[in-house]
Amino acid sequence: MSELVYENKNVEGYKLNITNVEDVQKFYDYVIEKYGKVDILVNNAGVTRDSMTRKMTDDQWNLVLDVNLKGVFNMTRLFGPLMEVNNYGSIINISSVVGVYGNIGQANYAATKAGVIGLTKTWAKEFARKGANVRVNAIAPGYTMTDMLKTVPQDLLDKFAALTMLKRLGQPNEIANAALFLASEEASYVTGQTLSVDGGMRL
Ligand SMILES: NC(=O)c1ccc[n+]([C@@H]2O[C@H](COP(=O)([O-])OP(=O)(O)OC[C@H]3O[C@@H](n4cnc5c(N)ncnc54)[C@H](O)[C@@H]3O)[C@@H](O)[C@H]2O)c1
Repeated sequence: MSELVYENKNVEGYKLNITNVEDVQKFYDYVIEKYGKVDILVNNAGVTRDSMTRKMTDDQWNLVLDVNLKGVFNMTRLFGPLMEVNNYGSIINISSVVGVYGNIGQANYAATKAGVIGLTKTWAKEFARKGANVRVNAIAPGYTMTDMLKTVPQDLLDKFAALTMLKRLGQPNEIANAALFLASEEASYVTGQTLSVDGGMRL
C-alpha cells in the first residue's frame, strides 16, 4: 500500500513498498502531477536477513535481493530517465562497507550492496550519455547506530568499532551529511563514485 503519511509546509512523507512496481508507479505519478520534476533521489531503503551461506533459505536470499537491488532498480528506472529529460539530478545509492569487503554470514546482503555499486557506475554513464547534468553516486557506510544494528550483540559492535581507524561506530547524521554533499552543487563534478563513510574501517 502506498500513501501520504506526513505533511507540513515544507515536507511530505509518502510511504511505499519499493519492491511493488505498482506502488512505485503510483508514487511516481503522484510526484510528477504535484511537482513536475525531481532533483534528488536517495535510494536508502534496505534490509538484512543474515545467515551462513549453507543455511541461507530461498526466502532470506530473495527478500534481500528484492528490496536492496530490485527496489533500487524499480525507483531509478522511473526517476533516472525523468532527471535525464529535465537535464538535472543527483541520485544517491546507499551501499555498505559489506558491499566493498564482503562479510561472513551476509552473502545475500553483500551481493546486493556490491550490486548497488555496479548500478551506480552504470547509471552514471547511462543517464549522462547525451550530456545531461545527472550525477549518480553511492555511499558505503560503515556500521552506523540505527535500528538495523538493534539485533547485533554489543560484543560484536565493539569488535566492529575496533576495526575502524576512529575506534567508534558511525551516527546517522554522519551518513546524511555525505548524502547532503553528494546532492549539492559542491559535488557538481563528482559522479560514478562510491564514498566510504566508515571511520576508516577494514572488514
Ligand atoms: N546501519 C548500518 O550499520 C548500515 C551500514 C551500511 C549500510 N546501511 C544501509 O543504510 C540504509 C538505511 O538503513 P538503516 O541503517 O537506516 O536501517 P533501518 O532498518 O533503520 O532502516 C531501513 C529502512 O528501510 C525501509 N524499508 C525496508 N523495506 C522496504 C521496502 N520494501 N520498501 C520501502 N522501504 C523499505 C524500512 O521501513 C526502514 O525505514 C540501508 O540501505 C542499509 O543497508 C546501514
